[in-house]
Amino acid sequence: MDRKRVGILISGRGSNMMSLFEAVRRPGYPAEIVTVISNRPDAAGLAWAAGHGLATAVVDHQAFAAREDFESALHSALTAARVELVCCAGFMRLMTAGFVRRWQGRMLNIHPSLLPAFKGLDAQGQALAAGVKIAGCTVHFVVPEMDSGPIVAQAAVPVADDDTPETLSARILTAEHKLYPHALALIASGAARLDGGHVVGGHPVNQQAQLFSPAL
Ligand code: GRF
Repeated sequence: MDRKRVGILISGRGSNMMSLFEAVRRPGYPAEIVTVISNRPDAAGLAWAAGHGLATAVVDHQAFAAREDFESALHSALTAARVELVCCAGFMRLMTAGFVRRWQGRMLNIHPSLLPAFKGLDAQGQALAAGVKIAGCTVHFVVPEMDSGPIVAQAAVPVADDDTPETLSARILTAEHKLYPHALALIASGAARLDGGHVVGGHPVNQQAQLFSPAL
């Protein structure tokens, strides 16, 4: 089988990267991780990746005066590893439209909300402030506008009355770790694909409606 060559971009602890690492080890998984790139030399996930035999690279944004120069170094690192699909996983740099266009249709991101609700930072805090009963996470293609690209897959979790940003984030993160490998497999295998600005294909994992509401 032709496995898609994936590059993962991280900035921090890299727990989503770890879940992708576990997934690609499964027989028949349609992608492999060919590089993990961090914009922060001290990212905890970077040491973890190296310790688990993954190729790693640092493209330190602080070493570049202009964002375009940083991005062109990032682009070179990705192309040097012959990356076919990019997975942003807690990558905390805004990207210019120029960079995004070079990877458009080939770059995924995970965001801790049910997009298009609660874009940007502290999505979990935004969800609590809005009083929603369902929160979740989204894997989407990256487009120049932040957190706005075509949605590949989403996972929902309930919100509890006594949730704090920390407890809700932890519940969403558990869902993220299932969702990202699932969404990447959909795209890498070709089971789901971009079509007219939306992602089509794949099948609902769970066709049963679930109620997220206070109990009687
Ligand atoms: C995750 O919540 C992800 O949705 C967001 O940043 C966080 C990264 O966590 N984009 P990790 O570095 O993958 O543990």
